[in-house]
Amino acid sequence: MLTPRRGSGQLIYNLAMRHHFILLLFCSLISAQTLRQAGAQRALLMGAAADSSEQSPDPLVTDAMYASTLGTQYSMLEPENNMKWATIHPAQNTYNFGPGDELVTFAQAHGMNVRGHNLCWQVYNPTWINTYATTATPAQMSTQFQNHINTVVSHYAGKVFAWDVVNEAISDSQTGTGVVLKDSIWYDQPGIGLTGTGYIEQAFRWARAADPNALLFYNDYNIEAPGAKFTALLVMLKDFVARGVPIAGVGIQMHIDTTGYPSSSGFAQNIQAIAALGLQVHITEMDVRIPVNSAGVAAASDLAAQAATYSRILTVCLQNPGCTAFQTWGFTDKHSWIPSSYPGYGAALPFDLNYQPKPAVASMINTTQTVAPVLSASNIVNAASYAAGAVAPGELITIFGANLGPAALVGTTLDSNGNVSSNLSGTQVFFDGLAAPVIYSLAGQVSVVVPYEVAGKSQTVVQYSYNGVLSNTVTVPVTQAAPGIFSANASGTGPGAILNLNYTVNSASNPVAAGGVVVVFATGGGTVQGGAKDGAPAPGTANQSLPVTATIGGQTATVSYAGLAPGLVDGVMQVNLTVPTGLTGAQPLVVTVGTVGSQSGITVAVK
Ligand code: XIL
Repeated sequence: MLTPRRGSGQLIYNLAMRHHFILLLFCSLISAQTLRQAGAQRALLMGAAADSSEQSPDPLVTDAMYASTLGTQYSMLEPENNMKWATIHPAQNTYNFGPGDELVTFAQAHGMNVRGHNLCWQVYNPTWINTYATTATPAQMSTQFQNHINTVVSHYAGKVFAWDVVNEAISDSQTGTGVVLKDSIWYDQPGIGLTGTGYIEQAFRWARAADPNALLFYNDYNIEAPGAKFTALLVMLKDFVARGVPIAGVGIQMHIDTTGYPSSSGFAQNIQAIAALGLQVHITEMDVRIPVNSAGVAAASDLAAQAATYSRILTVCLQNPGCTAFQTWGFTDKHSWIPSSYPGYGAALPFDLNYQPKPAVASMINTTQTVAPVLSASNIVNAASYAAGAVAPGELITIFGANLGPAALVGTTLDSNGNVSSNLSGTQVFFDGLAAPVIYSLAGQVSVVVPYEVAGKSQTVVQYSYNGVLSNTVTVPVTQAAPGIFSANASGTGPGAILNLNYTVNSASNPVAAGGVVVVFATGGGTVQGGAKDGAPAPGTANQSLPVTATIGGQTATVSYAGLAPGLVDGVMQVNLTVPTGLTGAQPLVVTVGTVGSQSGITVAVK
């Protein structure tokens, strides 16, 4: 599953609770100056590979421009070689963490995510393991493999957010309907004793055991466009997902030129096929090689074609929220594997030999500002329960994945009437053309109040906009009520954000006495008697126009008040309940508005 940033429930709750004294002033809208800023406005990590183990002297230490360009232009860093077997594990009982640690330290100092690369590859292995493999049994190879993965992943646990667990394992020539793999000491020479993709699966399971949180990726080339290799990859991915192998996504390398591979449509199709399995895509190793002269200099026309290619691939990535990172293989033409690997070619990266931005940089930044953000119905959810589906008048909703917005969270602002503004720092969400009050906004995550004007309609057309760049439209059914109870731990389940009558938060250590009264906060109650105004503070007199009932521990809990929460934004619903007698412990709570019940899994603590 793509993991949306949960926590909006708590956030929206807090913001709603305090909205009338929050006034964040946002002066001018800052447009992106760097790739990093541009990516942040698209909820997209902008990465570069960096290297010191093959470079002498180490550019990170000796070249100020190398370090400053990397640290200011990028939000993600991947060791080009420093974490590969040959560098990090040079002898059977020797680990060389220095080069990898150097990059991790740099990344941490610059607020960058680290992508680990890689734990398993059939090349770039140290001599000792290749020699060992010539006489070892599969059981002995398995031990070496497990030790390596465990040691390296444990060392970087909490520091490396995503690992390329297995690199380039799938063969470029496929026959049949299965997955033909490349020969490898880990697969068949002699291998670790597992058939087919078993060794890949095993690597993922060992990586997961060593770090419960890292995102685990399979990384490869020649999977940018549909074809036999991609089809084989999908066979493996479907199998892994179906059996719960801990894979989070696919790294698509993207070492390309300017001749048109991959086509935009083919690349889009592949991202969608991966995203449809609930997996992410990272573009991991993009470079766009162009012809260069003996001094490494390219023609202006080729630089222009290169800029267009970077922009084209970035566009496709931005058009699918499943594409969550965009990384180049290096960042300056001063340090690139292309000239030695593709003689006659070079100048493949966004910055030139002197760290000056090439046309590709402006082209990519411009692309981030202009490609339409993507809205999808499944990402429009109740702000408390995270349930997708229909929306109700006055419901506080969260929209995930609309991947254009402020680089950092912006909280509620009020308009001149003291109502929640419907244009928050450039963010707007329209329902049938009417702008909704915006509670908070962040690239990829925005929360708004569904206008009461949708009441009585069967559906509403939703559209998102940032700085005037409009998303696609999505038609969503309208329901009378869509209740969701805010939870205390911001997960949509667990203890409710419930107050005991003395206004302290109900919890296991602060339970309500059976027979006592609790105050529950929810949203999605639909229209209210006497009306309610979009974005206005609730007067506190209007009751729900639909009947509100509740159960605690499966027994009827008497409702003594159900309506807008006085003083909070219209749309936040307050329900006062009497806890049935005879209950103790964490008891499930369900609030029903009309015929629609709130989410399951919310509890109230009773003594
Ligand atoms: C390359 C590095 O760029 C070179 O410096 C090194 O000599 C060999 O490896 N696919 C990958 C990368 O996954 O690890 C490779 O990196 C490039 C191709």
